[in-house]
Amino acid sequence: MVTPFEERVLKERAKLRGSVEAFKKRVEESGRGPRSKQILLKTIQYESTGHLDFSLFPCPPVIDHGKGARLVDVDGNEYIDLHSGFTVDSLGHANEEVNSAIKAQMDKLNHYAELPVEPRAELARILAEHHPGNFEKKVMWAVTGGEAVEIAIKLARWYTGKQIIITHWGDYHGRTAGAMGLTSKAFMMAYCYPIPPMDTAVVRIPFPYCYRCPFGKEYPSCDLFCADQFETMFKSKETWLNNPKAEITNVAAMLIEPFQSSAGYIMAPLPYLKRVKEIAEKYDYLFISDEVQNGMGRTGRLWAIEHADVAPDLITIAKSLSNGLPLSAVTGRQEIMDSWGPGAHSSTFTAYPPACAGGIKVFEIYDRDHILEQAAEKGAYFLSGIEELSKRHPSIGHFNGLGLYLAIELVVDRKTKEPAGEAAGWALSELVKSGVICIHSGYYYNRLCFAPPLVIEKTEIDQALQVLDQVLGKMEQKFNITSE
Ligand SMILES: Cc1ncc(COP(=O)(O)O)c(C=O)c1O
Repeated sequence: MVTPFEERVLKERAKLRGSVEAFKKRVEESGRGPRSKQILLKTIQYESTGHLDFSLFPCPPVIDHGKGARLVDVDGNEYIDLHSGFTVDSLGHANEEVNSAIKAQMDKLNHYAELPVEPRAELARILAEHHPGNFEKKVMWAVTGGEAVEIAIKLARWYTGKQIIITHWGDYHGRTAGAMGLTSKAFMMAYCYPIPPMDTAVVRIPFPYCYRCPFGKEYPSCDLFCADQFETMFKSKETWLNNPKAEITNVAAMLIEPFQSSAGYIMAPLPYLKRVKEIAEKYDYLFISDEVQNGMGRTGRLWAIEHADVAPDLITIAKSLSNGLPLSAVTGRQEIMDSWGPGAHSSTFTAYPPACAGGIKVFEIYDRDHILEQAAEKGAYFLSGIEELSKRHPSIGHFNGLGLYLAIELVVDRKTKEPAGEAAGWALSELVKSGVICIHSGYYYNRLCFAPPLVIEKTEIDQALQVLDQVLGKMEQKFNITSE
């Protein structure tokens, strides 16, 4: 017998299930070339429906090779990459110098788990020295971004002896069992069923998404009302966070993406970041900046949080650290890093030596080729192109960008701000068909996000903007989005 409870749960879960038949149909109707279709069908046949590719794109492209900011699929179609494989390939695809450093280390010693090697020690020195703030710093290694986040949380709780982690609505911190408890996506909760999220000591507060302020205010006249509201939670014993009379706080850390990546490249106002760091200091808990996606120079500074002149206690780093090989790290205050003992965390492929050799080369190139300045300058150029587009495209309700971290928010009507989610999904497919790869995201599925390799050429930015111009024009016609 199926109870009403079971029936309801099964119905809800069915909505989240990927359908092999639906994926096949999407492939058949996609217009992709024959080789791509063959590989996509093999993927569908042998890989779990739980992968992300058919969620990111109606029908994902099948990439064969790349160079710089250019990609070529298995049928020979060319693309401008405005995505960098989720900001992994910041120095461009097939970067010869980074690849040579990786290959040289592979030929010398590929891996020997858990023993120190020279490139690991050297990259630890470089990372420690690049953590902002006037204090001693150290590094803890990991493999993925999610693992780095889990280390940071484990360490923050160990060091403070407290439980609660504060995150924001829209934050993405990974999909492993631990990180899932920190990530704010409704469907994450469904994937925890029938076991509740592992981490129940997580308090989520609204993110300063100023275009759609959760408090109905306008920035900057709001005077950071949201931060004041948050601080109110520490002034009463009734909010779980704090006992003002006994001067006890139960909070271990705030974990924050300074700019929310998976939620659609939404940027907190810099004074907000400064303010929440001050609140962390006042109530004596740690401040952790999750820079897995917007770190490593993406925004024109090495760490996004540096724009707010904030020195976090811990930073989580991954993605483009080795320009393509899996490598992640937590950097932070020495006294925190040295508060636990040998073996407190371990993972076999941690600090994979070729990835560390690649990371050293990445930092060398950043210095030599002024990559941060390039990101800032090309980002400003890209942003001014978007601003031009916004003058003739009524669908662009809002846009933002810092360095090569940019997004546009599509709306049906600028006055009502009604999100144009369906139109944005259609635009993404058209962009890919027209040779531009980017990401479609947002609280309401209505943002297009751009994160090209930091070495993209201005002529490639021009080309991408031209395609975007045409696609937005077609989209506005199809979805009847006018300036009236
Ligand atoms: C901000 C942020 N944190 C953590 C993660 C998780 O990293 P990974 O996918 O390497 O586990 C991501 C991944 O996109 C991310 O963007």
